[in-house]
Amino acid sequence: MKLFIDTGSVAEVEEIAAWGVLAGATTNPSLLAKEGGDPGETLRRICDLVDGPVSAEVVAADAAGMIEQGRALYGLHEHIVVKTPFSPAGLEAAHVLSEDEIPVNMTLVFTASQALLAAEAGATFVSCFMGRLDDVSIDSGETLQGIVEALHTGQSVAAVLAASIRSPQHAVLAARLGCEVATIPAKVLRQMLDHPLTTAGTERFTADWRSRPELGEWMT
Ligand code: E4P
Repeated sequence: MKLFIDTGSVAEVEEIAAWGVLAGATTNPSLLAKEGGDPGETLRRICDLVDGPVSAEVVAADAAGMIEQGRALYGLHEHIVVKTPFSPAGLEAAHVLSEDEIPVNMTLVFTASQALLAAEAGATFVSCFMGRLDDVSIDSGETLQGIVEALHTGQSVAAVLAASIRSPQHAVLAARLGCEVATIPAKVLRQMLDHPLTTAGTERFTADWRSRPELGEWMT
């Protein structure tokens, strides 16, 4: 499973990209609004840092507006994937944009039936929001499994993108269910690093090595 970072922060992308684990990024209007500044410039800087797709979302409510905004967003950088919200207008926009070979990430997908429509409209990525499902007591794992089975069994070319990831467990579950991508906030990516045995083991190796200073010369 590929890992994307879910953020509107250039600093976060810079930090996590250095780990060599990022295959892309996703933004949304809330994340970009939180950062402030010029959203176009932020998107361009994120695109320069990540060697892969960077999702940027339209905010128009009608198909014509979404298509116009989608084309403008795509013009910002070759890495841009246009995010359209799930709705009849979002489907229409996804269809038109994908026919023009502009890749689309259909966002706010919460059921397998919505995922089937998104894939048929031409979406490259279908984003299922795990955390927001759990927030309303709908089992995100069960829903995601249904989406993965529906798209993979039908041999759809659309990739299942697990979004609204709130914990390392969400990310692991998405991978085990066969999602092609998970987009993960920096906070959760940092949590994925941690294990007390890793910390203790590193401290022990360092202490043992330092207890024999003469061995240090071997490294230099
Ligand atoms: C996905 O692309 C969205 O930006 C994101 O995952 C939403 O997450 P949230 O539900 O934590 O806001």
